[in-house]
Amino acid sequence: MTRTPTETLLTEELILDPHAAAAMFLTARTANSFDAGEISEETLQAVYALTKMAPTAMNIQPLRITWVRSAEARERLVAHMVDGNKAKTLRAPMVAVLSYDTDWHELLPTTAPHAAGMVPTFAGNDALRQGMGANNAHIQAGFFIMAARAAGLATGPMGGFDAAGVDAEFNAGTPRKSFLVVNLGKPNGIVDRERLHRLEFDVATATV
Ligand SMILES: Cc1cc2nc3c(=O)[nH]c(=O)nc-3n(C[C@H](O)[C@H](O)[C@H](O)COP(=O)(O)O)c2cc1C
Repeated sequence: MTRTPTETLLTEELILDPHAAAAMFLTARTANSFDAGEISEETLQAVYALTKMAPTAMNIQPLRITWVRSAEARERLVAHMVDGNKAKTLRAPMVAVLSYDTDWHELLPTTAPHAAGMVPTFAGNDALRQGMGANNAHIQAGFFIMAARAAGLATGPMGGFDAAGVDAEFNAGTPRKSFLVVNLGKPNGIVDRERLHRLEFDVATATV
């Protein structure tokens, strides 16, 4: 297969304007530090307004977000992060704990009225609810990262934490399970490491 130069593709194939394509995909980096500026409530609401448009199976929307703003809550969260993630999580202007609701089926009459009759089926199948909850919340998490970028923020997603400990702190008494912690802040322009290799089209895709 002939390889098309990436620059040509990005000039000719995208409908996104070049500034947006750069900010959301091409120059955006995972951040370990941020500008010190605070993140407003309005910015967080804008991030969620975009995140919630993510497609999910049957529109179940299992993602739940806990914004960790106070210093006290931040300390409680950091206690459960792996050592390498502690300092940057303490310093980030905002941190979001992403969880999925394992009882997402209870909202089906609102989120998917056409499927409300399936509530008893899902209620009786914990494994199916867990699997669908986790899968679909991860899709929403990808949209969350892109939504934050669209709102001018940099993100630092982290899987390095003790989920049982975080759940005991922030999800106790709820059917929620944490799966990703995301540091957020305005970009500070600091690039602390080279971009790692991205797999080429021919390596990661096949046409059948
Ligand atoms: C699900 C997930 C878990 C991650 N966990 C950690 C983590 O625990 N600690 C960390 O420093 N970076 C973590 N990262 C950051 C990745 O290493 C980073 O996004 C990746 O190398 C791409 O970097 P780039 O966006 O700068 O190209 C995680 C990223 C994702 C998406």
